[in-house]
Amino acid sequence: MHNRSSTAIEMNTQTKCYIVTDLDNTLVGNTIATQEFNQKILNCGDRVGLIYATGRSYESAKQLQTTETLLEPQYWITGVGSEIYQNGILDSSWSEHLKAQWHREKIHTIAAEFPELLPQPNSSQNEFKISFYLHDNNAKEILSQLRDRITTAGFAAQVIYSSNEDLDILPVRCDKGLALRHLMTALKINNANTIVCGDSGNDIGLFKQDTLGIIVNNAQTELLNWYKDRGGDMIYYANNDHAAGILEGLDRLKPGFFTLD
Ligand code: GLC
Ligand code: MG
Repeated sequence: MHNRSSTAIEMNTQTKCYIVTDLDNTLVGNTIATQEFNQKILNCGDRVGLIYATGRSYESAKQLQTTETLLEPQYWITGVGSEIYQNGILDSSWSEHLKAQWHREKIHTIAAEFPELLPQPNSSQNEFKISFYLHDNNAKEILSQLRDRITTAGFAAQVIYSSNEDLDILPVRCDKGLALRHLMTALKINNANTIVCGDSGNDIGLFKQDTLGIIVNNAQTELLNWYKDRGGDMIYYANNDHAAGILEGLDRLKPGFFTLD
């Protein structure tokens, strides 16, 4: 358990915990629970590091931070992992890393051939993220055709579908979890001291990183299906929704840790 005489290095690699949470419908969704979460994190002081991982653009996530009174995290993973920000500054080493095998224009042209895909607003697009809305009973089939078309044309991309409506096409090296792994490597964070929290398809990448995880009860079917097929003991499926589910999960995964001080 927490040892106040730990050295700074030990704190970072052994006893400091990082909470990596999605925003919409995970940390955000129940104002009272979100504020309770904030208070718990503040009480933990330096023992806990906070990272947000969202599908939103940085600008949109910052707006949400204001309207929902969210704490300032140490890092922002935005645009489904297509961008990493610290203190308002874009991590350009991550952007460089994403360029491998990424042919945005060509992949966009292929996707635009599917009439069922409706472009999201420009503010949701970036150099490493092409986003559409897809509302169709045949979404599964359309996704599989899109993946096939990209592959047979000789390209590679991640095609991520969330909440039965959002379709993100990203570089192969990009998703929330891969962006998190980049930070974990840089910060020398252990899997066992990292807890990811999410509710939908774009969070699956986080849960694939073999860290601890919390799926909130209000999760979408695509994440629950993934959890049934591949989720292991490290992931806790909470009985509560939104931030109340996160608090429940933290208590289960790290008993006592978040109630000290
Ligand atoms: C957010 C983004 C959107 C994305 C969705 C799922 O809503 O604004 O562009 O498609 O998350 O990742
Ligand atoms: Mg979400």
